[in-house]
Amino acid sequence: MGMLQYLGHAAFYLEGSGIRALIDPFLTHNPMAPEGADARPEIDCIFVTHAHGDHIGDTVEIARRTGATVFATNELATWLKGKGLKAEGMHIGGRARFPFGRVKLTHAFHGSSMWEDGKMVYSDVPCGFLIEVEGKQIYHAGDTGLSVEMTLLEAEGVEIALLPIGGYYVMDVDDAVRAVGFVKPKKVVPMHYDTFPPIQADPQDFAKKVGEAAEVIIAKPGDVLSF
Ligand code: NI
Ligand code: MN
Repeated sequence: MGMLQYLGHAAFYLEGSGIRALIDPFLTHNPMAPEGADARPEIDCIFVTHAHGDHIGDTVEIARRTGATVFATNELATWLKGKGLKAEGMHIGGRARFPFGRVKLTHAFHGSSMWEDGKMVYSDVPCGFLIEVEGKQIYHAGDTGLSVEMTLLEAEGVEIALLPIGGYYVMDVDDAVRAVGFVKPKKVVPMHYDTFPPIQADPQDFAKKVGEAAEVIIAKPGDVLSF
């Protein structure tokens, strides 16, 4: 059986046969995070959707400490390798098989940048991830606006979709409801809301509007869900 734990904002812990992973591990400066960057002694993989601080978060520190392999788009992965980390630099639409299951990078419409020596440096295109764990497809959308590319995911048979609902930088509730209609996951967990003032959203409103289209799981930081 697989397990997914919400760590607040867009951060999740994902575990199953052959994998103990973090997705977008923004913990130290995340006011919603139930744990710190040093909470887990063993992590095999870290999935990073883009270089914005609220997603790359504590990646470098955790990967250094645990020896985890970081999955990211090629440019970001190359930057991380330059910091001495192990990384898989895949790219949008690319899929590859790993011992725990397959990974595909999905489209995300957003930006990606980082601070280097006091200057903002453009990083690369952001992505989402389709991660196969225990034979089930987990879709983390990353930061993204609504896009027709999401209709491509229907054919993937997504078990759980993790979708941003906070608006301002990403989909708001109404667009995320439309995304559910495009992806057609069995279950959906709203994320990327209420962390900071511009991204206030009502997950109950999202659940009401999704209705019967999918099972909506409103996770509080720390909540665990089995699949
Ligand atoms: Ni972002
Ligand atoms: Mn973000």
